[in-house]
Amino acid sequence: MSMRMPCASGASRTSPRAVVTAIAVATIAVAASTALAMPDAWAGRDPHSFARPDQVAVTHLDLDLRVDFDARRLDGTATLTLDRRARDAREIVLDSRDLEIESVTLDGTQRAAHFTLGDAIPIFGRALTVRLEPATRTITVRYRTSPGAGALQWLDPAQTAGGTKPYLFTQSQAILARTWIPCQDTPGVRATYTARIRTRPDLMAVMSAGNPQARRADGVYDFEMKQPVPSYLLALAVGDLEFRPLGPRCGVYSEPSVVERAAWEFAETPQMMAAAESLYGPYRWDRYDVLVLPPSFPFGGMENPRLTFATPTVLAGDRSLVALVAHELAHSWSGNLVTNATWNDFWLNEGFTAYFENRIMEKVAGAEMAAMIAQLDVQSLQRTLADTTLAARDTWLQLDLAGRDPDEGLTDIAYIKGYLFLRHVEEVVGRARWDAFLRVYFDRHAFSSISTPIFLADLRHDLVHGDVELESKLGIERWIHGPGLPSDAPQIESREFARVAAQVEAWESGTPARKLDTTDWRTQHWLYFLDQIPDSLAVERMADLDAAFGLTGRENAEVLCAWLQRAIRSDYANANPALEAFLTRQGRRKYLEPLYRALARTPNGLERARAIYARARPTYHPVSYTTIDAILGAP
Ligand code: BES
Ligand code: ZN
Repeated sequence: MSMRMPCASGASRTSPRAVVTAIAVATIAVAASTALAMPDAWAGRDPHSFARPDQVAVTHLDLDLRVDFDARRLDGTATLTLDRRARDAREIVLDSRDLEIESVTLDGTQRAAHFTLGDAIPIFGRALTVRLEPATRTITVRYRTSPGAGALQWLDPAQTAGGTKPYLFTQSQAILARTWIPCQDTPGVRATYTARIRTRPDLMAVMSAGNPQARRADGVYDFEMKQPVPSYLLALAVGDLEFRPLGPRCGVYSEPSVVERAAWEFAETPQMMAAAESLYGPYRWDRYDVLVLPPSFPFGGMENPRLTFATPTVLAGDRSLVALVAHELAHSWSGNLVTNATWNDFWLNEGFTAYFENRIMEKVAGAEMAAMIAQLDVQSLQRTLADTTLAARDTWLQLDLAGRDPDEGLTDIAYIKGYLFLRHVEEVVGRARWDAFLRVYFDRHAFSSISTPIFLADLRHDLVHGDVELESKLGIERWIHGPGLPSDAPQIESREFARVAAQVEAWESGTPARKLDTTDWRTQHWLYFLDQIPDSLAVERMADLDAAFGLTGRENAEVLCAWLQRAIRSDYANANPALEAFLTRQGRRKYLEPLYRALARTPNGLERARAIYARARPTYHPVSYTTIDAILGAP
């Protein structure tokens, strides 16, 4: 299974037919209407946004929102400050999806502006076009979100650790910000923001901005983000939160009953920050805190600036899954500081981050741990690439996602092929030169959005210097504009995994599981072990492993998920209660997707999957249930 991707492509790519069909239908509709909706001048711009930032760009956003848990809505105003770039621009186009727009007024007055909402296009939503006066500098949109808003999950008290108070959180990446804020929802536009959030006095609100460390008696919170950020990094969470410091610049937030465990698990965060800064320069975002969310958070982590959002499934109790923090922290440079201009350049965000994450892990956990993590990732990539239903074009680093949900770019390709390319460049030019290049790169493009051609121009200008031999060794074209994994890809071999492989061999040639040598095995050893044994086994063989290693009873979500996939394929019924519990008590898409998919492929599994899903679906975030709907059919 994939260690890396939010939507385990290792699984989705083995049999993504259901998803492919569902999206194909949507894509036809989208492509047709997009073609109608989008003018000729669209070429070269973000294909996933209606905005025309070349005409008028938003430079600051000021939110004033009330959090209504009963109605499951945010309502209030978004005031946008405009940069009138084209002198003759008479309107601004914003992205919106499922927003109820009440009014638009100009320049802080009650003067109403004329506005229109375009046809609703699946996934992309509706263009909100506002007519401007020649001198208009700000517009105020009064609106409310809809209860089904794609970015928002409203949790009942029962879905939280404490069980007594409700909870709300957002997930804006890739193009869901438009479901809770009318905005130019493209990573090519950055804005600073301020916000006033009004909630119940017994809850705390936090955002991807300067944050409170204690509750306010009146439930009103003011936020400021001084550095300009793209819309996909707008984030809000409201719940019964407590803060614990981990160092002068970092700390954790979570529900009171989780906060101690979270603080213990992430105690190495200050060292990670120091390691990251020693590699690629100062951390530019002031504080770095981590918010540990309830288990329905659909991703492993989300790099919201100043406040990473993280799944509680990484609280393994042994700090074995903290590479996730290294990853989200690394995004403070690759992604949040230097951002992909469009989702077609997603590898600039995730490939660089996977590379940087591995360098941080090498520093804080040692070269062997970094090698194990990388090797597991590469195996996952190889499974993705072996899947014949994945179009060759979608295995290029430079993607073409026009007309499709950018979620489709969320595969091992951007992360791990991207990682391997950068590691390959490092191997060719040497670590010292490569690190010097990266420091300049992050500095030069700080707080801007860049495309793959710009990165390549930098690479050629700063490193290749017209050296024909070097250019050919780098093989840039093959990596960026070619399918699959080039044959000069770095080879990663962990010594620890050679040890595991010997035990796999022993077990396969008849040694009973309880006689295997698993001393000092950590999460990564178990993942490798489970990866190396056959995908499906005789029930007695499963029972042999289970009796020796208690795999069905594991609390570590990575190990449990890998084991449960094998249990489904092997029809190992002993694991059924654990499977059902796992599918109902957490909502991380990376775990749900391969498990439901595996179930749907067994003779009685589809029915079982549907029965479990009928109960679990109301507890999942829209990001997760949209994916599972495509596998099992919407209810
Ligand atoms: N930014 C991503 C999550 C994401 C990507 C959300 C695209 C929506 C659209 C985040 O940094 C990420 O990659 N998270 C991974 C964990 C990481 C350790 C690989 C995840 O959630 O599994
Ligand atoms: Zn990432």
